[in-house]
Amino acid sequence: AAPVTHEAEAATVSQGAVESNHAGFTGAGFVNYDNVSGSYVQWNVNAAQAGPATLTLRYANGTTTNRPMDIAVNGAVAASGKSFAGTGAWTSWATTTVNTTLKAGANTVRATATTANGGPNVDHLTV
Ligand code: GCU
Ligand code: CA
Repeated sequence: AAPVTHEAEAATVSQGAVESNHAGFTGAGFVNYDNVSGSYVQWNVNAAQAGPATLTLRYANGTTTNRPMDIAVNGAVAASGKSFAGTGAWTSWATTTVNTTLKAGANTVRATATTANGGPNVDHLTV
């Protein structure tokens, strides 16, 4: 199926804020994770059928320090400590992918910061 974009600003946010002060995002903005471990964005993703899927996360990290996150699908970690390296500027957006398996129907994808720096700024998830 054609990829579907799920904006972070339309997802469930825990310990983060929707902002739009760094250009280059899609939709209405992005999520600025609070700079704490455990901050997360969670999306609802519908899959027409069960099977393998590629999760593409678009993000910016204007620091030179990696901001790793655990990527969980339906509550199970699919990628532990996934790297979200510096992108050069808060206005420079990059993508990174996680291969996973989805079930038919409703799924959740959660990206949780694992360090005290919090996550990067996250624009969207494409599935
Ligand atoms: C700056 C930047 C934010 C970013 C934050 C951070 O404040 O403007 O968009 O989230 O740094 O370091 O997390
Ligand atoms: Ca932040």
